[in-house]
Amino acid sequence: MCGIVGYIGNKNTKEILLDGLKELEYRGYDSAGIAVLQGDTFESFKAVGKLINLEEKTKDFITDRFAVGIGHTRWATHGKPTELNAHPHLGESSYVVHNGIIENYAELKKELMHNGVTFLSQTDTEVIVHLFEKNLKTSSSAFGAFSQTIKEIEGAYAILLVTKSEPDSIFFAKHGSPMILGKNSENENYFASSDTPLIGQCTDVNYFEDGDFGYVNPQEIAIFDKNENKKEPNFSKLSTNKLSAQKDGFRFFMEKEIYEQSVVIADTLMGRVSESEVLFDELDANLFDGINEIKLCACGTSYHSALSASYLFERYAKIKTSVEVASEFRYRQPIMTKDTLFVVISQSGETADTLETLKMAKEAGLKTLVICNVDNSSMVRLADATVLTRAGIEKGVASTKAFATQVTVFWMLTLFVAKLRNTLTNEEIAKQIILLREVPASVKVTDSMHERIKRLSKRYLHGHGFFFIGRDIFYPLALEGALKLKEISYLHAEGYPSGEMKHGPIALADPELFTIALLPQHLLYEKAKSNVEELSARDSTICVISALEFDKADDFIQISTCQDYMLEFFEMMVVVQLLSLEISIRLGNDVDMPRNLAKSVTVE
Ligand code: G6P
Repeated sequence: MCGIVGYIGNKNTKEILLDGLKELEYRGYDSAGIAVLQGDTFESFKAVGKLINLEEKTKDFITDRFAVGIGHTRWATHGKPTELNAHPHLGESSYVVHNGIIENYAELKKELMHNGVTFLSQTDTEVIVHLFEKNLKTSSSAFGAFSQTIKEIEGAYAILLVTKSEPDSIFFAKHGSPMILGKNSENENYFASSDTPLIGQCTDVNYFEDGDFGYVNPQEIAIFDKNENKKEPNFSKLSTNKLSAQKDGFRFFMEKEIYEQSVVIADTLMGRVSESEVLFDELDANLFDGINEIKLCACGTSYHSALSASYLFERYAKIKTSVEVASEFRYRQPIMTKDTLFVVISQSGETADTLETLKMAKEAGLKTLVICNVDNSSMVRLADATVLTRAGIEKGVASTKAFATQVTVFWMLTLFVAKLRNTLTNEEIAKQIILLREVPASVKVTDSMHERIKRLSKRYLHGHGFFFIGRDIFYPLALEGALKLKEISYLHAEGYPSGEMKHGPIALADPELFTIALLPQHLLYEKAKSNVEELSARDSTICVISALEFDKADDFIQISTCQDYMLEFFEMMVVVQLLSLEISIRLGNDVDMPRNLAKSVTVE
């Protein structure tokens, strides 16, 4: 995920671009940059790390007359977070910013290099600007060269390009990545990845459709659709409320974040999976040398993703894996051996208990890795190696998209280790990668699914408790489902392994005990089904989540039929998140800021 902004007008272009990027910093913050064209002079600045570094670099840069400018804040996908890889990228006399991925960049780059073009960065983005410059030589206009460029690139993108050959225009294209155009009565035009940077600056916004491209200058807004037919802009009034704009029409941030999972998982995969292998540029292959065991340590939701990962590591990478609750681990004088890779998992990278265990592992001389959503956080700074989840800022206290991206990273990491240890064949890894690529689609919330859950939720507002049950990797998902529900509904909920119910908890079974049963078609279906039947025989109220109809259930939420249990895992994850959300909303609770909780717990 990256953020892009653009501006055409007479005001302080530098400030406008930097302010806009500030609003988008949640989309990525490993580097940022701007390029401004005033008359025939280009100025460009880039800085690694947070936006503050770019502000520092541009402090003597003055923009006091008509200018066109573009800016970018980056989540590294192709190439490390360095200044050379930061956007905007320069051609001969043009700059480009891009959010998304150019899938055919390697072929294009090869061809351009063959024709003598020198590339400065490792990014996929740089091909756009060089391709544009090449097309400019044979086209009658800059726009002709730009449309030819768009025809030649494949993938997902939101692109802004400025060029000396049309010094008062910004060329744009949108396909699969967000981009909005704003205008105001002062004849200024703005571009941004979301509408928050535009609030207070623009009165009207145009939401582009996929395939739209064109140019904007002070005289004209020219938009063409994917078939190159010119179309009228479709401006609507922009909200003046930043908070509700940030929620994009959703009732709560948590709801928005559940809906965002498809996009952020796609971002997490981006640049990290080829057809046959998982690539983590950020990891040294020797991180796993001499390692015979993996120890995962975390708190709360991150602990549940760690527990899920332990099933995958042992199943696919055949490596001994244990999981620890950080607050327990730190005081129990654990035995730590140097053949163990110590992995901490944290959305924030600041949770005190988890951070402490990382320090302990370092002191004991273990190799350490952090799976984290926040670059430059304490854990990222401390660990030997980092893999960033790319969930973007998560505002709801109850974690959703962070969990989804953590499990995605773990699934990739197991395949990465399986390859190193030769525990899966290349064909098996390729098959898993096909499944991984299906995850973004499997977590898309459909209207019918959401409506069904909304309707069902009214039956689950009372009772003396909930059991979420599942087997194997669906047990940590059951734990996570129960945690979501208790965090935001304040109802008592427990996660249990389905097979354990008969060893005690089943004593609680009666019609007022609600069981949410996770019944994947592709993993231990018959076994888990018998456990649910045992509960049904004791008259417990049962809500089954499965692809297969189940006649003993009081309620049934059907997920789609797919080929693998991991896709069922992700789809069921969305169901339990939405169920908690709808129950909590019906109970009139503050979903985003539940009582007694905090997003990041930096005390013991
Ligand atoms: C708090 C939050 C939980 C979160 C846990 C771990 O308790 O309320 O939602 O899962 O901390 O946070 P981390 O940032 O380390 O993942």
